[in-house]
Formats: sequence, C-alpha cells, structure tokens
Amino acid sequence: MVAELARGLKDVVLDTTESSFIDGEAGILLYRGYNIHDLAQQSNFIEVSYLLLYGSLPSTAELDAFHQRLTGYRKLPAEVVQVIRLVKDAHPMDVLRTAVSAVAAFDPDVEDNSRAANLRKSERLIAQFPTIVAAHHRIRHGQEPVEPRAGLSHAANFLYMLEGELPEQEAVDAMDLDFLLHAEHGANASAFAARVTASTLSDMHSSIVTAVGTLKGPLHGGAAEAVQKMTSEIGDPSRAEAYIKEKLDKKERIMGFGHRVYRAEDPRARHMRDRSKALGEKMGHSEWYQILIQVEKDMSPYQSRGIFVNVDFYAGSVYALLGLPEDLFVPIFAVGRIPGWCVEILEQYDNNMLIRPLLLYTGPKDIPFVPLNQR
Ligand code: SDX
Repeated sequence: MVAELARGLKDVVLDTTESSFIDGEAGILLYRGYNIHDLAQQSNFIEVSYLLLYGSLPSTAELDAFHQRLTGYRKLPAEVVQVIRLVKDAHPMDVLRTAVSAVAAFDPDVEDNSRAANLRKSERLIAQFPTIVAAHHRIRHGQEPVEPRAGLSHAANFLYMLEGELPEQEAVDAMDLDFLLHAEHGANASAFAARVTASTLSDMHSSIVTAVGTLKGPLHGGAAEAVQKMTSEIGDPSRAEAYIKEKLDKKERIMGFGHRVYRAEDPRARHMRDRSKALGEKMGHSEWYQILIQVEKDMSPYQSRGIFVNVDFYAGSVYALLGLPEDLFVPIFAVGRIPGWCVEILEQYDNNMLIRPLLLYTGPKDIPFVPLNQR
C-alpha cells in the first residue's frame, strides 16, 4: 500500500528528537527543553553547543574543559590550509565544503563511528569551522591566515582571525548571539540531508559535507545574503512598498519571510531585529534597519497567511554592520549550525533506520522494446 504523496515531505514527521522543539503555530523554539529567549538573553554559543551535544547545561568545570578542548582543536592541519589556497577563488561555501572533506583526511577518528569518536569529531568540527571560513577569507584577499588565539571566546576568536585585530565587545556579542540563534533547528533541509547520509552509516564528515552543500541554497541558508541585496536595491524606506509590490506581482519571494514550519513570527527573529537596531544606532548606520522595518510593515498583510519574518531577515544587516562581506553570510550560518548538525547526526546513529522514501511513478509502463535497427 503506497502512502499518500507528500511533496517536499511537507508536514511529514521523520523521527523523534530530543535536540530541539519547534511549535510552528505558537512560534516557540526550545533547545533541549530550554526556551530560545532564555538562552539568547542568558547563555552563549559555546554553552549552548555543550547543551546540544551533551544534553544538559554544563557546570563551570565542564564548560571550562569543553572550551579548553575546542581551543585546542581550532588550528587546521597545514595540508588543509594548502587545499584552501588551491580553491581560494571558489565561493566560500564551496571552499567550506571542500575543507570539511580535507579535514576528514587528517582526523584520527575518521573511520571510527563510535559515539565517543563522533563526539570528538563534533568538537573538532565546531572548533574548525570558524578557522576554515576565516583562513579562506584572508587567503582570497592575498593575506596570510591569522592563527587562532587561545583565551578568546569562540565568536571573538572568529572575528580576530578574520580581521587580524581584537574585535569590539559589541561585535563579539552580536556574533555570539547570531551563532546561538542558528545553532539547531530540527529537520531543516540541511540537517535532514545530514541525517540521510548518516542513516546509511556513512561517516560524520561525509554527513556534514552533505549539510554544507544543502545549506548553500537561497531557499535555506542563502536568504540572509539575498535580504541584504534586497535592502541595498530598495535604498530608502519610502521605496519599500513599491519594491515589494513589484516582486509579489511577479510571484517572486520576499527573502527572509515565510517558513515551512512557523506560522507565527520565528522566535529567533526578534533578537536579530533588536540587535540590528542597537548596532545600527550605535554605529550611526540605521538606514538598513529602517528599510527592513518598513519592509516588515509593508508585508504585514501576509501575516494572515502565516508569512512572517524568519531568522534570516535581520541577520544580514547585523553581518553588514559588523563589516562582513555578503558572500560570508551563509558560511557564518554554517559556523552557527554545526553543533545542531552534529547532534542530529548523533541522534540518527543512536537509533538508526535507513532513510529511504518512495517516489510515485507517473510514467508509462510495459512499453514493448524496439531493437535499434527498427527505430
Ligand atoms: C531558513 O527549515 C528550517 O528550519 C530553516 C531555517 C533553519 O533554521 O534551518 O529556519 C532557516 O532556511 C529560514 C528560511 C529562509 N528562506 C527564505 O527566507 C526564503 C524565502 N522563503 C520562502 O522561499 C519560503 O517561505 C520557504 C521556502 C522558506 C518555505 O516555503 P514552503 O513551506 O515550501 O511554502 P511554499 O513555498 O509552498 O509557500 C506557501 C505560500 C505560497 O503562496 P501560494 O503559491 O500558495 O499562493 O506562501 C507564499 C508562497 O508563494 N510564500 C511567500 C513567501 N514564502 C512563502 N510569498 C512571498 N514571499 C515569501 N518569502
């Protein structure tokens, strides 16, 4: 008996999970039972990464030891930096995907699929993603990579490796919040893709390569870059309404809006909205925020159809205010999402079942074969 067709697997429940809970109707997100609002206001990315991987908030000693391990894992093998140099002119997401394959070749646990080994690989990948993104960014601009620096937080070290100088605290706070808000989000396309790869009992790095390739798409991770391009095209809040009308009349999507699960405002969006406002005011650059707020107002009639801003709508303006280039927006999403991908791969391995859906065949059947000399 063939189940009914569910294109895009819309509303299909794949499996159980304990890593995050999403209530799309109410706009609620929990990581391991903790509300995203509490975590955004009181926690930080490394503590949340520990929570996701190990299932509980760490003690001070556990957090220090975790941070110590991650710090030790930040540096890339020299051969991986060489690979990045060879592909330096590719899109940063393609470089990240390639570098994940390269670090696998130098990971001592690469062929060990035990839970302990996969936790070690998770910690290494969380630590290495910022180094890969920052190293490539400097190499493609003709600069030497900046070595990771102990004693800096995850977000501070990322910005330090990018710019080669110690970042301002408000930049660190904005970056850390962004990573935290992007850390995990259920069976989103890239996490689902990683689960499919892991469900064949392929290795963790292969599953992460799948996830990176999937996140790159503009319907998923690429939205923040598209929103910032839209903001620049609009140029002034007074032009927002006409711009949106023209796009919608052409049945085009307004990027940063809508979501497969949320039918209320994405609970992560408010934190990025507030940060965009605060950073913009502090830096005397509120024009992007003003345009985005106007777009959100002009899109409000769509709320009746369950179309609200998602996490990516304000993210791009925060990255731009931090001076980050648009083609790094998706890699930055990946730096935030790597713990979520890892915890879902671990969940898949822990209670695995091969993920293999069906396709409903609609083509012809039983056509008689005609030999070549008779066609
Ligand atoms: C992320 O899944 C996750 O959890 C992802 C994510 C995560 O943390 O991993 O939350 C991160 O990817 C956020 C989403 C970022 N993407 C965008 O902002 C791109 C723009 N958004 C849309 O493309 C869309 O909303 C999707 C792809 C996100 C979801 O689309 P669905 O669920 O497949 O819904 P749909 O495309 O069938 O749209 C339903 C209706 C359509 O109208 P009708 O054809 O029925 O008349 O809503 C309309 C759509 O046209 N619609 C939009 C719209 N999104 C949906 N109309 C205008 N602008 C939009 N952005």
